[in-house]
Amino acid sequence: MPAKATLKLENKDVQLPIIIGTEGERAVDIRNLRNETGYVCYDEGFGNTGSCESAITFIDGEVGILRYRGYPIEQLAEHSSFIETAYLIINGELPTPAQRKRFSQLLTENAPIHSSTEHLYEGFPWDAHPMAILSAMLNSLGCYYPHLATNDHQRDLQNFEETAAIIISKVRTIAAYSYRASRGLPYNYPRRDLPYCENFLHMMFSTPFEPYIALPEVAQALNLFLLLHADHEQNCSTSTVRTVASSGANLFASTAAGVCALWGPLHGGANMAVLEMLKSIHAEGDDGTKFIELAKSGKADRRLMGFGHRVYKHYDPRAKIIKESFYSALASLGIKDDPLLNIAMRLEAAALKDDYFLSRKLYPNVDFYSGLIMRAIGIPENMFTVMFAIGRMPGWIANWKEVAANGKGRIYRPRQIYVGPTKRDYVPPHQRH
Ligand code: ACO
Repeated sequence: MPAKATLKLENKDVQLPIIIGTEGERAVDIRNLRNETGYVCYDEGFGNTGSCESAITFIDGEVGILRYRGYPIEQLAEHSSFIETAYLIINGELPTPAQRKRFSQLLTENAPIHSSTEHLYEGFPWDAHPMAILSAMLNSLGCYYPHLATNDHQRDLQNFEETAAIIISKVRTIAAYSYRASRGLPYNYPRRDLPYCENFLHMMFSTPFEPYIALPEVAQALNLFLLLHADHEQNCSTSTVRTVASSGANLFASTAAGVCALWGPLHGGANMAVLEMLKSIHAEGDDGTKFIELAKSGKADRRLMGFGHRVYKHYDPRAKIIKESFYSALASLGIKDDPLLNIAMRLEAAALKDDYFLSRKLYPNVDFYSGLIMRAIGIPENMFTVMFAIGRMPGWIANWKEVAANGKGRIYRPRQIYVGPTKRDYVPPHQRH
């Protein structure tokens, strides 16, 4: 492997160092390119740009590999839980039993939210989108902990363990409260005796006259859903978290920004978009055959949602795992013949033998089935992306920490290629036509 790459620019040879990651990923280091040549790189969408060095998640999208801190996603899905995996992602190692116990205690202690926060919910219109509420409430949460949200990375890092636990634990309380507020239902306080997922489902669905007891298969499906979403390298929302963190912003503000980035239909909003697509196919009496043809038109609003991925050019390994677990959740809930699931399976089968999708390497991503799982559990559609945000929290937190702990880190500030008008003189209003 050469130590340097040579770039020929205006008859000058520019030497660019090569960097190799621990999994053999190769990069050309262009950090000095502009200083040496006056040129910048143009890479709209950053598809060829490594924005950082990171030790959290490894993906090889060509062959469908996903590992958190070196551990294959398949092994974590089989043996671990969301909370243990969250600890791993945030701290770099699987917890010892004592560390696991302490983490659980911190989560339990931090599950309730300040009672004055409840009044903040009243300020939102009843039909406000829960992603807007989640982002606003996460940012507001920092106001209740000014000593943990100083915007001084060194100080914020001193209390990192506590801040991380507060956010991981309270994000589910905030999410459940936003659902209760939107339905005009009383809030359910978190219980100390319930594990993470069961507690969330209790806060969502218990009523004053009937506690919600989650079926083990349902709690397990939710656990798996969260675990599979816990981190995913430098995607749109994680890059946003890192960008905000790079300015020195605290963990509450940075993760709130991550929620906003996740909201869009091309990212976290895709699980909701998949379900909307399946419902509209069903309502039109189509079995998916007509829709597949339309999806090949290349029109952005006709895409087969839940298909394609910026980095996976193979079956998303998370989609495989979630699809398998889906059947046991459905069986335990007594759901035998779900017309939307039937359409989804038909769409998948058709796309996987269609040259349009094969030639573009478009395979199901995690969102293709995750919306159906959420629906089976009883999570309302506008909460799907919120569920993704709860799951992604450990990844955002770990990425924030990498930025905050990097003493040599620089503020994220890309360049651009300006294509607007060249210099021109101001035109007074009466001379404009
Ligand atoms: N349906 C139909 N055609 C598609 C789809 C799709 N879902 N996705 C991509 N294409 C086509 C494009 O039209 C394009 O075709 P062309 O080469 O003829 O112009 C080609 O495939 C490449 O597409 P890009 O948009 O360049 O791929 P990019 O890597 O930028 O986008 C993305 C990836 C956003 C995920 C895209 O595949 C998509 O929109 N998928 C549907 C939305 C979705 O499922 N998002 C969830 C992503 S996973 C996550 O966030 C957890």
